[in-house]
Amino acid sequence: MTEFDIATVEIPRELDPTGKDEFCQAIALSNLSDELAFGTTDTAFDVAEELALWQPSEFERYRMLVATVDGRVVGRGTYETTVGEDADTAWVIVHVHPDFRRNGIGSALLAELETIARRDNKRQVVMYAPSSLNEGPVLAAPTEFGSVSKNNPETQFLLAHGFSFEQVERVSRLALAVPGLLSLVDDAIDRSNRDYALHEWVDLCPERWREDLAVLYTRMSTDEPSAGLEPPEDVWSVDRLLEYQERLTESTLSMVYAAVEHVDTGTVVAYTALAVPREPSRAVNQAGTLVLQEHRGSRIPAYWLPRSVEAGSALACSNGCDTRSGPTTRPREPQLAHAGKTHRNASRGS
Ligand SMILES: CC(C)(COP(=O)(O)OP(=O)(O)OC[C@H]1O[C@@H](n2cnc3c(N)ncnc32)[C@H](O)[C@@H]1OP(=O)(O)O)[C@@H](O)C(=O)NCCC(=O)NCCS
Repeated sequence: MTEFDIATVEIPRELDPTGKDEFCQAIALSNLSDELAFGTTDTAFDVAEELALWQPSEFERYRMLVATVDGRVVGRGTYETTVGEDADTAWVIVHVHPDFRRNGIGSALLAELETIARRDNKRQVVMYAPSSLNEGPVLAAPTEFGSVSKNNPETQFLLAHGFSFEQVERVSRLALAVPGLLSLVDDAIDRSNRDYALHEWVDLCPERWREDLAVLYTRMSTDEPSAGLEPPEDVWSVDRLLEYQERLTESTLSMVYAAVEHVDTGTVVAYTALAVPREPSRAVNQAGTLVLQEHRGSRIPAYWLPRSVEAGSALACSNGCDTRSGPTTRPREPQLAHAGKTHRNASRGS
């Protein structure tokens, strides 16, 4: 058995120019692990962007652990939770370098993350794991959308640790540029419901839409399909929105927004956001899309999504756009499986 140590990463203020500190090594490790799982570097995180987003926030709680062997980072565990009365859930992720798997490192990192969750009185721990469908037996999702291969390491690992399988999310990739995108936009404008108006901006939300965007971000935590996980309401205020946008600015990612106003009430009731990296070689990531329940099926301008893809690709000249969607569409590989674990011995607020 390999000897290893586990420690919490002190998030540095500045990027290590040598790229060798624990933070840089940990990001590189999770990128490698994701690349092996997804078969693409599209999902890779940029270490400078990540550093800005990992800076302490009064509205969010996160922690990064690393497992090291002789000073080399061979495993990473992350912990994330919300703040406020409903903050009863912790989201965790574990990555172990392929050369160091089956040494108990993943289990040790997970045990440490669960200890933190217990100390924080969390009711449940939720893990998202990239998972490909292979030959052999499968586990069907209880939502009846999608399944995962039973013998995959991540499936076995989660089952061995008492997680229950909850749902599958699809990850899709759209190659840019999209031929005929502008005419698609024009067609969609013709067919859209005139009770709604489209607004677009990059980065800082215009003042008049900030309250509405905070509501949409909050509703994202409850309106997204989540099977039996019952995530807590993650409340966004205007202050939190501004703090988040400041960190995004520091990260140098551009966020391209398209938002739909319900003209009668003068409120924004739907949005989509694309995170656009500076480098054209990197993929744009669809960072969130929501239409409030009460406005679904109203022929909200269908052109908002292609419009924002157009804007995002024009900004970045990027070669791909990655998006995740819930269990309403047909699964394709690769996919993300959600698994949840209830902490029956942890009760909120006690
Ligand atoms: C899943 C992952 C974190 C496991 O890390 P690890 O350090 O190899 O895990 P451990 O050595 O602690 O394994 C614990 C148990 O999980 C199960 N397990 C882990 N890998 C397995 C595999 N390849 N095949 C079958 N069972 C496996 C076994 O029950 C194992 O116990 P055992 O070795 O006594 O049989 C690692 O494979 C990984 O980083 N995968 C890619 C990233 C990922 O999917 N992360 C999300 C994790 S759910």
